[in-house]
Amino acid sequence: MTDRFARTAERVAARQDARAAQLADDVREFGQPNGDERALDVGTGAGALAFALAPLVREVVGLDPVPELLELARARALPNTEFTEGDGTAMSFADGAFDLAGTHRTLHHVERPDLVVAEMARVTCAGGHVLVVDQLAPGDEDAAAVLHEFETTRDRSHTRLLTDEELRELFAANGLSVLRERLEEKPRELAAYLDLAGSEGESRARAEALAGANPRVLVESVGWYLLSAR
Ligand SMILES: C[S@@+](CC[C@H](N)C(=O)[O-])C[C@H]1O[C@@H](n2cnc3c(N)ncnc32)[C@H](O)[C@@H]1O
Repeated sequence: MTDRFARTAERVAARQDARAAQLADDVREFGQPNGDERALDVGTGAGALAFALAPLVREVVGLDPVPELLELARARALPNTEFTEGDGTAMSFADGAFDLAGTHRTLHHVERPDLVVAEMARVTCAGGHVLVVDQLAPGDEDAAAVLHEFETTRDRSHTRLLTDEELRELFAANGLSVLRERLEEKPRELAAYLDLAGSEGESRARAEALAGANPRVLVESVGWYLLSAR
Protein backbone atom coordinates (compact mmCIF):
# COMPACT_ATOMS: atom_id res chain seq x y z
CA MET A 1 0.00 0.00 0.00
CA THR A 2 2.77 2.43 0.84
CA ASP A 3 4.51 1.98 -2.54
CA ARG A 4 2.19 4.64 -3.98
CA PHE A 5 3.71 7.16 -1.54
CA ALA A 6 7.24 6.11 -2.46
CA ARG A 7 6.40 6.69 -6.16
CA THR A 8 4.68 10.04 -5.59
CA ALA A 9 6.88 11.35 -2.75
CA GLU A 10 8.05 14.45 -4.67
CA ARG A 11 4.46 15.38 -5.54
CA VAL A 12 3.30 14.89 -1.95
CA ALA A 13 6.15 17.16 -0.78
CA ALA A 14 5.42 19.82 -3.42
CA ARG A 15 1.76 19.95 -2.39
CA GLN A 16 2.83 20.15 1.24
CA ASP A 17 5.10 23.14 0.47
CA ALA A 18 2.28 24.90 -1.39
CA ARG A 19 -0.10 24.44 1.55
CA ALA A 20 2.36 24.94 4.42
CA ALA A 21 1.41 28.51 5.36
CA GLN A 22 -2.33 27.72 5.44
CA LEU A 23 -1.79 24.54 7.47
CA ALA A 24 0.43 26.41 9.95
CA ASP A 25 -2.33 29.02 10.47
CA ASP A 26 -5.01 26.34 10.83
CA VAL A 27 -2.98 24.30 13.33
CA ARG A 28 -2.12 27.38 15.41
CA GLU A 29 -5.74 28.49 15.56
CA PHE A 30 -7.29 25.05 16.08
CA GLY A 31 -4.67 23.26 18.20
CA GLN A 32 -3.58 26.20 20.38
CA PRO A 33 -0.51 24.40 21.82
CA ASN A 34 1.08 25.95 24.93
CA GLY A 35 4.62 25.97 23.48
CA ASP A 36 6.14 23.37 25.77
CA GLU A 37 4.82 20.16 24.23
CA ARG A 38 6.74 17.17 22.98
CA ALA A 39 4.63 16.40 19.91
CA LEU A 40 4.23 13.47 17.53
CA ASP A 41 3.00 13.47 13.91
CA VAL A 42 1.81 9.98 12.87
CA GLY A 43 1.96 9.37 9.10
CA THR A 44 4.02 12.52 8.73
CA GLY A 45 4.82 11.96 5.04
CA ALA A 46 7.23 14.75 4.10
CA GLY A 47 6.47 16.40 7.46
CA ALA A 48 3.34 18.50 6.78
CA LEU A 49 1.87 18.52 10.30
CA ALA A 50 5.27 18.29 12.00
CA PHE A 51 6.41 21.53 10.31
CA ALA A 52 3.11 23.27 11.12
CA LEU A 53 3.57 22.30 14.78
CA ALA A 54 7.31 22.96 15.05
CA PRO A 55 7.15 26.73 15.76
CA LEU A 56 4.33 26.16 18.29
CA VAL A 57 5.81 23.39 20.48
CA ARG A 58 9.12 22.38 22.12
CA GLU A 59 9.90 19.49 19.76
CA VAL A 60 8.20 17.27 17.19
CA VAL A 61 8.83 13.69 16.13
CA GLY A 62 7.43 12.71 12.71
CA LEU A 63 6.80 9.00 12.08
CA ASP A 64 6.11 7.34 8.71
CA PRO A 65 6.78 3.93 7.11
CA VAL A 66 7.97 5.37 3.75
CA PRO A 67 11.73 6.14 3.62
CA GLU A 68 11.40 8.24 0.43
CA LEU A 69 9.03 10.62 2.22
CA LEU A 70 11.17 10.73 5.37
CA GLU A 71 14.15 11.71 3.25
CA LEU A 72 12.17 14.72 1.94
CA ALA A 73 11.08 15.57 5.49
CA ARG A 74 14.69 15.46 6.71
CA ALA A 75 15.74 17.72 3.84
CA ARG A 76 13.34 20.33 5.27
CA ALA A 77 14.20 19.65 8.95
CA LEU A 78 14.07 22.40 11.57
CA PRO A 79 16.18 22.37 14.76
CA ASN A 80 13.31 20.94 16.84
CA THR A 81 12.09 18.29 14.36
CA GLU A 82 13.16 14.68 14.07
CA PHE A 83 11.88 12.02 11.67
CA THR A 84 11.75 8.30 12.25
CA GLU A 85 10.59 5.26 10.29
CA GLY A 86 7.74 3.29 11.83
CA ASP A 87 4.19 2.00 11.69
CA GLY A 88 1.47 4.04 13.39
CA THR A 89 -0.45 0.88 14.29
CA ALA A 90 2.40 -0.42 16.50
CA MET A 91 4.70 2.35 17.68
CA SER A 92 7.82 1.77 19.74
CA PHE A 93 7.31 4.88 21.93
CA ALA A 94 6.66 4.44 25.65
CA ASP A 95 3.22 5.02 27.14
CA GLY A 96 2.64 8.75 27.73
CA ALA A 97 5.81 9.77 25.84
CA PHE A 98 4.12 12.78 24.19
CA ASP A 99 2.05 15.77 25.29
CA LEU A 100 0.43 16.06 21.88
CA ALA A 101 -0.04 13.36 19.22
CA GLY A 102 -1.41 14.39 15.83
CA THR A 103 -2.24 12.81 12.51
CA HIS A 104 -3.12 14.63 9.28
CA ARG A 105 -4.81 12.99 6.27
CA THR A 106 -3.41 9.57 7.14
CA LEU A 107 -6.08 7.42 8.83
CA HIS A 108 -7.81 6.64 5.51
CA HIS A 109 -4.58 5.18 4.13
CA VAL A 110 -4.19 2.68 6.96
CA GLU A 111 -5.89 -0.76 7.03
CA ARG A 112 -6.51 -0.48 10.78
CA PRO A 113 -7.15 3.18 11.69
CA ASP A 114 -8.57 1.92 15.01
CA LEU A 115 -5.07 0.75 15.97
CA VAL A 116 -3.55 4.13 15.05
CA VAL A 117 -6.05 5.97 17.25
CA ALA A 118 -5.43 3.49 20.09
CA GLU A 119 -1.67 3.95 19.74
CA MET A 120 -1.98 7.74 19.69
CA ALA A 121 -4.03 7.58 22.89
CA ARG A 122 -1.47 5.23 24.49
CA VAL A 123 1.58 7.42 23.75
CA THR A 124 -0.16 10.64 24.90
CA CYS A 125 0.27 11.50 28.57
CA ALA A 126 -2.72 11.98 30.86
CA GLY A 127 -4.08 15.48 30.30
CA GLY A 128 -2.33 15.67 26.93
CA HIS A 129 -3.99 16.24 23.57
CA VAL A 130 -4.63 14.28 20.39
CA LEU A 131 -5.25 16.06 17.09
CA VAL A 132 -6.94 14.13 14.29
CA VAL A 133 -7.47 15.64 10.85
CA ASP A 134 -8.84 13.47 8.07
CA GLN A 135 -11.14 13.37 5.10
CA LEU A 136 -14.60 12.11 6.11
CA ALA A 137 -17.06 9.73 4.47
CA PRO A 138 -20.58 11.07 4.03
CA GLY A 139 -23.15 9.73 6.49
CA ASP A 140 -25.40 8.68 3.56
CA GLU A 141 -24.47 5.10 2.52
CA ASP A 142 -25.04 5.53 -1.23
CA ALA A 143 -22.98 8.72 -1.35
CA ALA A 144 -20.27 6.99 0.71
CA ALA A 145 -20.20 4.04 -1.73
CA VAL A 146 -19.78 6.35 -4.76
CA LEU A 147 -17.01 8.30 -3.05
CA HIS A 148 -15.28 5.07 -2.02
CA GLU A 149 -15.33 3.81 -5.62
CA PHE A 150 -13.89 7.10 -6.87
CA GLU A 151 -11.15 7.26 -4.23
CA THR A 152 -10.05 3.62 -4.61
CA THR A 153 -10.05 3.93 -8.42
CA ARG A 154 -7.89 7.03 -8.15
CA ASP A 155 -5.52 5.64 -5.53
CA ARG A 156 -4.92 1.98 -4.62
CA SER A 157 -3.46 3.02 -1.25
CA HIS A 158 -6.81 4.49 -0.19
CA THR A 159 -8.42 2.07 2.28
CA ARG A 160 -11.66 3.58 3.63
CA LEU A 161 -12.88 6.96 4.77
CA LEU A 162 -14.47 6.91 8.20
CA THR A 163 -17.61 8.88 8.96
CA ASP A 164 -17.69 11.50 11.68
CA GLU A 165 -19.72 9.04 13.76
CA GLU A 166 -17.18 6.21 13.33
CA LEU A 167 -14.33 8.51 14.33
CA ARG A 168 -16.20 9.61 17.45
CA GLU A 169 -16.75 5.96 18.40
CA LEU A 170 -13.01 5.31 18.06
CA PHE A 171 -12.21 8.35 20.20
CA ALA A 172 -14.64 7.31 22.93
CA ALA A 173 -13.36 3.71 22.89
CA ASN A 174 -9.87 5.07 23.63
CA GLY A 175 -10.82 7.48 26.40
CA LEU A 176 -10.44 10.55 24.17
CA SER A 177 -12.99 13.31 24.64
CA VAL A 178 -13.68 15.96 22.04
CA LEU A 179 -12.58 19.45 23.10
CA ARG A 180 -12.96 21.20 19.75
CA GLU A 181 -14.13 20.20 16.28
CA ARG A 182 -14.41 21.72 12.84
CA LEU A 183 -15.69 20.59 9.46
CA GLU A 184 -14.06 21.93 6.29
CA GLU A 185 -15.61 21.53 2.83
CA LYS A 186 -13.42 22.33 -0.14
CA PRO A 187 -13.75 21.81 -3.89
CA ARG A 188 -10.82 20.01 -5.47
CA GLU A 189 -9.46 20.20 -9.00
CA LEU A 190 -9.79 16.78 -10.67
CA ALA A 191 -6.60 16.66 -12.79
CA ALA A 192 -4.35 17.85 -9.95
CA TYR A 193 -5.97 15.39 -7.55
CA LEU A 194 -5.42 12.47 -9.96
CA ASP A 195 -1.82 13.60 -10.61
CA LEU A 196 -1.11 13.67 -6.87
CA ALA A 197 -1.90 9.95 -6.59
CA GLY A 198 0.03 9.11 -9.79
CA SER A 199 -3.27 7.98 -11.38
CA GLU A 200 -2.78 6.97 -15.04
CA GLY A 201 -4.25 4.99 -17.94
CA GLU A 202 -7.46 3.03 -17.50
CA SER A 203 -7.91 3.73 -13.81
CA ARG A 204 -7.48 7.47 -14.42
CA ALA A 205 -10.09 7.39 -17.20
CA ARG A 206 -12.47 5.48 -14.92
CA ALA A 207 -11.92 7.96 -12.06
CA GLU A 208 -12.59 10.85 -14.50
CA ALA A 209 -15.84 9.19 -15.64
CA LEU A 210 -16.94 8.62 -12.04
CA ALA A 211 -16.27 12.27 -11.17
CA GLY A 212 -18.12 13.40 -14.33
CA ALA A 213 -21.19 11.42 -13.29
CA ASN A 214 -20.92 12.34 -9.58
CA PRO A 215 -19.51 15.87 -9.22
CA ARG A 216 -20.03 15.72 -5.45
CA VAL A 217 -16.91 13.49 -5.15
CA LEU A 218 -14.90 16.61 -6.00
CA VAL A 219 -15.93 18.36 -2.78
CA GLU A 220 -13.89 17.01 0.10
CA SER A 221 -15.11 17.09 3.69
CA VAL A 222 -12.32 17.23 6.24
CA GLY A 223 -12.93 16.80 9.95
CA TRP A 224 -10.66 18.40 12.56
CA TYR A 225 -10.83 17.03 16.13
CA LEU A 226 -8.87 18.20 19.17
CA LEU A 227 -9.18 15.55 21.87
CA SER A 228 -8.25 15.36 25.49
CA ALA A 229 -6.48 12.21 26.73
CA ARG A 230 -7.47 10.59 30.00
C1 LIG B 1 -1.95 11.28 2.27
S1 LIG B 1 -0.43 10.99 3.07
C2 LIG B 1 -0.42 12.28 4.27
C3 LIG B 1 0.97 12.66 4.67
C4 LIG B 1 1.05 13.89 5.59
N1 LIG B 1 0.45 13.64 6.87
C5 LIG B 1 0.42 15.09 4.93
O1 LIG B 1 -0.57 15.61 5.42
O2 LIG B 1 0.95 15.50 3.86
C6 LIG B 1 -0.70 9.53 4.03
C7 LIG B 1 0.51 9.08 4.81
O3 LIG B 1 0.18 7.92 5.58
C8 LIG B 1 1.36 7.15 5.69
N2 LIG B 1 1.03 5.82 6.18
C9 LIG B 1 0.52 4.77 5.50
N3 LIG B 1 0.41 3.69 6.32
C10 LIG B 1 0.86 4.08 7.55
C11 LIG B 1 1.01 3.44 8.82
N4 LIG B 1 0.67 2.17 9.00
N5 LIG B 1 1.52 4.16 9.85
C12 LIG B 1 1.86 5.47 9.69
N6 LIG B 1 1.74 6.11 8.51
C13 LIG B 1 1.24 5.44 7.46
C14 LIG B 1 1.89 7.20 4.27
O4 LIG B 1 3.22 6.76 4.17
C15 LIG B 1 1.71 8.68 3.95
O5 LIG B 1 2.81 9.44 4.34
